Amino acid sequence: MRHHRLITAMMAAAVLLGTGCPAAKAQRAKKAAEPVKTVPEFTLPSSETPEQKLERMKWWTDSRFGMFIHWGLYSLPARHEWVKEHERITTEGYQKYFDHFDPDLFCPQEWAKMAKAAGMKYVVLTTKHHEGFCMWDSKYTDYKCTNTPAGRDLLREFVDAFRAEGIRIGFYYSLIDWHHPDFTIDNRHPQRIDGGKPEDYAKVNVGKDMSVYRQYMKDQVTELLTNYGQIDIIWFDFSYPGETGKGHEDWDSVGLLKLAKSLQPNIIVDDRLDLKDTWGGWDIFTPEQYKVDKCPEWNGQKVTWETCQTFSGSWGYYRDEATWKSVPQLLELLIETVSKEGNLLLNVGPTSRGQFDQRAQDRLSGMGKWMSVNSRSIYGCTAAPEQYTTPQRTLLTYNPEKNRLYIHLIDYPLDKLSVDFADKIEYAQFLHDGSEIRLSKGALTVPVVKPDCEVPVIEVFLKD
Ligand code: GLC
Repeated sequence: MRHHRLITAMMAAAVLLGTGCPAAKAQRAKKAAEPVKTVPEFTLPSSETPEQKLERMKWWTDSRFGMFIHWGLYSLPARHEWVKEHERITTEGYQKYFDHFDPDLFCPQEWAKMAKAAGMKYVVLTTKHHEGFCMWDSKYTDYKCTNTPAGRDLLREFVDAFRAEGIRIGFYYSLIDWHHPDFTIDNRHPQRIDGGKPEDYAKVNVGKDMSVYRQYMKDQVTELLTNYGQIDIIWFDFSYPGETGKGHEDWDSVGLLKLAKSLQPNIIVDDRLDLKDTWGGWDIFTPEQYKVDKCPEWNGQKVTWETCQTFSGSWGYYRDEATWKSVPQLLELLIETVSKEGNLLLNVGPTSRGQFDQRAQDRLSGMGKWMSVNSRSIYGCTAAPEQYTTPQRTLLTYNPEKNRLYIHLIDYPLDKLSVDFADKIEYAQFLHDGSEIRLSKGALTVPVVKPDCEVPVIEVFLKD
């Protein structure tokens, strides 16, 4: 019966898919400006069916919770990873950050332990952000960590440490590059021209050859997906098509995607290559920094999705930014995301010395405390079937394999929680301590005093 239910759930979902550390030392969418003009023909090298796609992505949809890490030279100015663009800094002006990049406290084992303790199952690190700086020993550039005071391949240490904790590895790779000499100046560039027309850009871009840059990206992606073992996710970022922007033709998105799939056939790819209308052009929809109202759809069908969010208002380490989300807000974000069939990729911006600052550590450990006893309502869970009406001031998740419903008490009730599915309940308990919750006259009876748990969860065993 359970097996049957699982298969049914999988088939249904398939349809929806549509489209100073000793260890370290020892180791040593954005919106389119204009509509896309052409849609390239592209099918996956293997003609993957929706069911196969679902199977390939199962580990990811079951995980529900991952860590994003934005780390690069921008951690030195510590005022946003777009600082080079925001302040229109030239490459010469930016050089001081390269010269002083010295993450002497970098201990990826500690990072990995914190991610694991928070309940995160996968990680995505910026191997190169828009500034163009490479966190690995790429043989195609000198603009890399091995040539800074860091003096070593940080990515290698990172990958080894996270893998050792059983965390799946994802690489973020910026399509944008404000350092590469052949990357043409455009409307998102530090040296952009205010109100610039295509002809203005043509003048400043004389001598730059994007085809050289396209090849550079392919060479680097080949390195990244060849030299670091199994890579589970690649996050290309991002496209802004239009006359003075860049889209799939500028990147050769199809070529990049084919390359990535040929090197790592099971890799999961985000949706920022500007191949939204192409079957096989993306795996996950990536709403950034906002809560969705409901499970997102594309061409009328629900999609697999992941919201990426920061603790505060920046991805890179931002010393003076103060809008940090609280642990209860973050837990609600995670639960709500799962209740709408999505994943949460939560970002940390490490300092230039290589540490998670205290504010990030506090939030991770706060979430980890909750996850250590409640993760059953997150892993392998999804939206509740429609016949279960969400009780007031709660969020529901559901585990289709176990046929259990999870009621998250976002606002703790007085003592009774009315449910309209009482006849379906076989047994109910608090998840954090496994103590029985009794049912009486169509309501679950909870203790008046809220348990010492940020968001208490009632685990409901449903009748078969
Ligand atoms: C945006 C930003 C970038 C950040 C990313 C995360 O595209 O350009 O700074 O890395 O979103 O989703």
